[in-house]
Parts: sequence; structure tokens; C-alpha cells
Amino acid sequence: MTRTAIVTGGSRGIGAAISVGLKKAGYNVAANYAGNDEAAQKFKAETGIPVFKWSVADYDACVEGLKQVEADLGPIDVLVNNAGITRDAPFHKMTPQQWKEVIDTNLSGVFNMTHPLWNGMRERKFGRVITISSINGQKGQFAQANYSASKAGDLGFTKALAQEGARANITVNAICPGYIATDMVMAVPEKVRESIVAQIPVGRLGEADEIARCVVFLASEEAGFITGSTISANGGQFFV
Ligand code: CAA
Repeated sequence: MTRTAIVTGGSRGIGAAISVGLKKAGYNVAANYAGNDEAAQKFKAETGIPVFKWSVADYDACVEGLKQVEADLGPIDVLVNNAGITRDAPFHKMTPQQWKEVIDTNLSGVFNMTHPLWNGMRERKFGRVITISSINGQKGQFAQANYSASKAGDLGFTKALAQEGARANITVNAICPGYIATDMVMAVPEKVRESIVAQIPVGRLGEADEIARCVVFLASEEAGFITGSTISANGGQFFV
């Protein structure tokens, strides 16, 4: 049986690795993206994975976009909530807009994508909801009151919903990547990044594929007993 998966923010960075990893594992995959048309078209041409543009911060856009994906690919069995943004600033400089943008995408975006798919998963008695949180949702991070709050919120969402999904064979899990070599981390000033790498016991940034492999595992039939869990993949930087 070929299952269908959607990956938000699925055409770049960790999301692109997840989309490709799921495709290689035999899933029908759709990649959602919000802004970068050029990167999305390049990704589509290179991987053959269809791309769908909307912002996860907009509930109505999620409902419409998901309808289109399901019309094209069939009912969605696996949702990977990967889309995320940063608007880093020390708190005394953080604006309400920086707070709102991050919460709207990283936390409300997870609600906006999961809610329209939930009843279908319940009816079909199968589902996988996998949310990419962050080490910074677990430990907090200087200049990320907004991001850390959103990612910690994703973990609470996961643990609550896991309890509701269990009876319908829907698992709900989170992955907390540490610092992975993506554009988001490369945007951190070089000096700061060097000091971060110095705090990672394995001595390097992670690779996007190392997160994708966790997703493929959690999406599988064999992972059905794992729900409400958090996989920390951070090179030993932080233990919960
Ligand atoms: N701990 C303690 N102090 C810190 C600090 C830290 N981690 N980082 C910066 N500071 C200090 C600086 O030394 C500076 O102190 P002084 O004023 O005494 O020199 C002060 O805080 C920063 O003041 P600035 O006015 O220079 O700050 P700014 O408005 O220019 O902002 C910044 C700079 C946005 C904080 C920048 O340093 C930065 O981007 N830091 C990285 C934040 C970070 O790690 N983000 C993670 C992004 S990756 C990600 O989020 C993916 C994931 O899930 C892991």
C-alpha cells in the first residue's frame, strides 16, 4: 500500500531532505512551501516531487491547499510539520511583529495543518503526525524568546494530541533537531556559530539527512507503538 505524505517547508533545508527521504522510502510525497518559488521549482525539477504554495500561518489557505493535494495525490496519511522561521532578537529589542510572525508559523501553523487532516485520519484509522520542534524549544536560546516558545508549544501540542490519536491508530511525535547545516543556521553570525559548534560534543553541525531518517522511521508502520515522544537529534548538545 502506497501511503501519501505532505511535508511543510518541504522544498528547502531539512524539509527537502525529509521529502526526498520519504519518496525513497516509497511514499507519494507533496512538498508545501510558502515563499521561494525559484527554490521550489528547482526542487521539483530535480526530485519529481510536486510542490504546493501556501502559508501554513493561514488556516483557510491550509484547508484549500490540502484539498488540492488530496485531489491530486489521495488522502494524506503522513503529515510532517516542518515549516519554521526565525526572527531572532534580544527580548528588549523584540517587536510584537517578530513575536507574532514566529508564533503564527511555528506553532499556529502546526494547528492549521493538523486540524483539517485530523478527521480523515480518524476515519481511516491511520495517521502519522510528525512535528519538527527544536533543541531551542527544550533548552531555550538567547535572542529566541519567540522561537523557543513556539517550539516548546509544539512539544505540548504533540503530547496532548498523542493521547487523542492513540485509539484511532494515529501517532503524534516530535523531533528536536540541534544545529543542522541549513540556511537558517548559516544565517547566524559566523562567530556565534563557531561558539555553538564548540558546544556540540560530536564536534560538528548535523546533516539534514540525519533528521530525515528519524522522520522515515516515525512514519513507518513499525513505529506504531511510539507516540507522544520526542526524538532529540543534537550531537549530544543537550540531554532532556
Ligand atoms: N549568550 C549570552 N549573550 C549573548 C549570546 C548568548 N548566546 N549571544 C549574544 N549575546 C550577547 C552579545 O555578546 C552582545 O553583548 P554585548 O552587548 O555585551 O556585546 C549582546 O548579547 C547582543 O547585543 P546586540 O545588540 O549585538 O544584539 P543584536 O540586536 O545585534 O542581535 C543576535 C544579535 C540576533 C542576538 C545575534 O547574535 C544572533 O543571531 N545570535 C544567534 C541566536 C541563535 O543562536 N539563533 C539560533 C538560530 S538557528 C535555529 O534556530 C535552528 C534551530 O532550531 C537550532
